[in-house]
Amino acid sequence: MTILDAPAATSLRLLSGIGDHGHLRSFDDHIAHHGPLEIDVRPGRADDLLCELVRASGLGGRGGAMFPVARKIDAVRAQRGRAVVVINAAEGEPASRKDHVLLESAPHLVIDGALVCAAMVGAGEIVIGIERGSQPQFVALRAALKERRGRDLGVNIHLELVPDGFVVGEERALIDALNGGPGKPTHGAIRPFQKGYHGAPTLVQNAETAAQLALIARHGADWFRSVGTDDEPGTVLVTLSGAVGRAGVYEIAIGTPLADLLAAAGGCTEPVSAFLIGGYIGTWLDARETDGLRVSNADLRPYGAALGARAIVALPATSCGVAETARVARYMADQSAGQCGPCVFGLDAIAQGLERLVRGDGSQLADIERWCELVVGRGECRHPDGAASFVASALRVFESEIHRHVVDRQCAGTRAALLPVSSKRQANIAERQVA
Ligand SMILES: Cc1cc2nc3c(=O)[nH]c(=O)nc-3n(C[C@H](O)[C@H](O)[C@H](O)COP(=O)(O)O)c2cc1C
Ligand code: SF4
Repeated sequence: MTILDAPAATSLRLLSGIGDHGHLRSFDDHIAHHGPLEIDVRPGRADDLLCELVRASGLGGRGGAMFPVARKIDAVRAQRGRAVVVINAAEGEPASRKDHVLLESAPHLVIDGALVCAAMVGAGEIVIGIERGSQPQFVALRAALKERRGRDLGVNIHLELVPDGFVVGEERALIDALNGGPGKPTHGAIRPFQKGYHGAPTLVQNAETAAQLALIARHGADWFRSVGTDDEPGTVLVTLSGAVGRAGVYEIAIGTPLADLLAAAGGCTEPVSAFLIGGYIGTWLDARETDGLRVSNADLRPYGAALGARAIVALPATSCGVAETARVARYMADQSAGQCGPCVFGLDAIAQGLERLVRGDGSQLADIERWCELVVGRGECRHPDGAASFVASALRVFESEIHRHVVDRQCAGTRAALLPVSSKRQANIAERQVA
């Protein structure tokens, strides 16, 4: 396990205790390290107090969009009917391992956070949705839940396996899978907070968000806000990979300079041409643009970028950004849930255009740019928007590589493919963390 603890701007919270012991899987170890929850998190006991804490903390959801957690909780509380909490532990993004690491190393923190969620919305049921391929995480969570059996939790909590795939982590797709469907985003304007798991008002929060809530319930809002920035408080988990000394999952305060994160990972092992920030629905940045960049949405906004699920990849200069982008674009096209025309045909056309580009055929370059604009906002979910903005950023950042492919018929890439496009490659990132 690789954990960042060097720069002063950083404080380990979610991952604290894990570096020393390898994990905090048992309930006793978890309580010995984090201490007990002082607030009674059984539904109906301290729901208003917890809601106030979360509002004051300014916590944004850690699944990607940083949507204010307090606002989502208010929305669920305003509905009629007994609510359900769904913890999104799918993490289908191949370049991201942060939820996998958290679930495997600190499952009780996620469970505590799920209980805090249930208390705030008065839920009688918690469902943790996890991908079929995430066996070690499933085993760790199942064991942790078994340990809690017999304790008065005040709520029924269970684990459910969902299909593997990029889109199944989208909240309506996850609910669809949990309701027995194929795991595709459902159509229509009704959102899970209104009608979700088996028709109940449903609070969906990412696993890391839940773990943050477990710590906020223990230490309070001021403690939470004591690191990070005023607008983006707290720490985040980041999956760092590519040309760095120690690829792995790191916990950093939001606003930590990217250079400090890289230094803690042993620095870049070779010249880097670009950084991918935010994974496959994220943005490529030219390495020169990252001088002085801090890991925050505020710093990324001028580039049209965002932290997303915080997968950061350092692309070595010996890798071809065009070929890497084409492979990921094909993967994203293949991951389409296959139910919206612009997503199905648009992403496929973009991927095909990029594949031609890699072969030196630039005849569709203008079309690719146009298709990237055309698919935005045209799908039932934001899968095509994210994939298109990822490709659009590549066209900007890798302009000279594209020129070389098309005009000089040359490729800068001299090494094997880097970006993972399957869960098998995902496992490789984890191996590197443990090494
Ligand atoms: C294509 C797509 C894939 C997503 N995959 C995940 C995922 O794997 N895990 C996750 O927590 N959120 C994922 N999300 C975001 C969820 O829809 C949802 O916003 C999130 O689970 C809410 O939790 P949070 O508010 O705690 O971040 C995805 C969104 C999209 C559009
Ligand atoms: S936009 Fe794409 S991934 Fe999203 S629901 Fe439609 S077909 Fe599926």
